[in-house]
Amino acid sequence: MLKIGVLASGRGSNFQSIVDSVKRGEIEARIELVISDKRKAMVLKRARKHGIDAIFLDPGGFSSREDFEKGLSQKFDEKGVDLVLMAGFMRILSTYFIKKHRGRIMNIHPSLLPAFTGLKPQKQALDYGVKLSGCTVHFADEGMDTGPIILQAAVPVREGDTEETLAERILKEEHLIYPEAVRLFSRGLLKIEGRRVKILKETESEDNE
Ligand code: GRF
Repeated sequence: MLKIGVLASGRGSNFQSIVDSVKRGEIEARIELVISDKRKAMVLKRARKHGIDAIFLDPGGFSSREDFEKGLSQKFDEKGVDLVLMAGFMRILSTYFIKKHRGRIMNIHPSLLPAFTGLKPQKQALDYGVKLSGCTVHFADEGMDTGPIILQAAVPVREGDTEETLAERILKEEHLIYPEAVRLFSRGLLKIEGRRVKILKETESEDNE
């Protein structure tokens, strides 16, 4: 069974959507470990409530970013994690972690990539004046929000939207497409071909070969 590790810094609503989907039996996986770089992150409480191991790993306790990432990697390796989910993890992973887990790290970003990477994408969308925004689940690569796209969902930007109202509309979609992307991965239905992620039909799954 697929073993999932989660990296998160904050409230953890995306993490929760994955937990719920696993509980409903939609995703055949076990969430082995949640790691946060913030001691007080709500995601840690949420995880423990569900009996999932959850730890705070202090980036300040490591001498470099690479060492911190080695620490993360070691924790996930100890648990035999096959897929790492970044769910509101407010750090960029550098080459070490990406190289080691390439094609097995996903991220969710609240914009229709490649538009509005980085911080405050909902504000960026409003400031730019786009009429549609949304969210993207992608495999992580060395760049910021640049890896191969797995799924996207669009939402309208409405007259009078604030950052908060737009973020809320997008978040509802995040909670649908992130579990779906994980489900596809767990079924062996995602095939990375350069920048493109091919979504296979169940009959084409490499697990069935
Ligand atoms: C989400 O909007 C996600 O797309 C972004 O950070 C936010 C995290 O929210 N990367 P939550 O912690 O999952 O509630």
